[in-house]
Amino acid sequence: MRKAVIAGNWKMHMNCAEARAFAHTFRGQVENLPEDRQVVIAPPYLAIPTLSEALRGTPVAIAAQNVHWDKKGAYTGMVSAPMLLEHGVTHAIVGHSEPRKYYSETDEQINLRARTAQIYGLIPILCVGESLDQREARETERVIHRQVEQGLEGIAPDRLIVAYEPIWAIGTGKSCAAEEANRICGLIRGWVGDPEVIVQYGGSVNPATIDDLMAQPEIDGVLVGGASLDPISFGRIVNYQVPVGVS
Ligand code: 13P
Repeated sequence: MRKAVIAGNWKMHMNCAEARAFAHTFRGQVENLPEDRQVVIAPPYLAIPTLSEALRGTPVAIAAQNVHWDKKGAYTGMVSAPMLLEHGVTHAIVGHSEPRKYYSETDEQINLRARTAQIYGLIPILCVGESLDQREARETERVIHRQVEQGLEGIAPDRLIVAYEPIWAIGTGKSCAAEEANRICGLIRGWVGDPEVIVQYGGSVNPATIDDLMAQPEIDGVLVGGASLDPISFGRIVNYQVPVGVS
């Protein structure tokens, strides 16, 4: 039985004071969190110690928004897995479309990051997804297959999350239709080759779309950007409800 994982990616939002205020309200939102789901938040690196401390005793896990492939060294501006472990971080996003685009991250580098994460006991959340041009050129499956294959070389599927994040749906308010997201998540699970691997959907997820997405059989959770910044909105998302009889 795959456990749902609802993750918030704060990107470059929230300083320490804002993270503390978020946690103050969000604690109440996860007081009666159903046991069939895990909640994860990825704040900016600087807010990790504050958020980790402010959410202590809650079922919320802390993720990093990236992780370096080396344990230490001359890599100005980077953060390593052992540094994250010191602050109770359990997950690390790798291969998000923003570092792929703005910092030219390659599938090879992303794979190294994912491998290092697993070596140190962090669960990598590997993001994959096509651009609008690629979708219109009917290259969606080919692009994602490549990202999965190259990104996951040498990776154990039982300590892994894959997030399908179509680039055209990120921050645009144009969520992918639940049935199409379900189809691609199913393909990803097949390419990973482990029926138990957790596959999330991400891209303009909000309180109005979450229940429909989580009712899809191949979607095991979501990776939420904008709507995870507000504790009430994210609270509604983590407390999604699927109609009885729908898995
Ligand atoms: P939005 O939810 O703001 O579209 O962002 C999605 C995302 O990139 C999560 O990693």
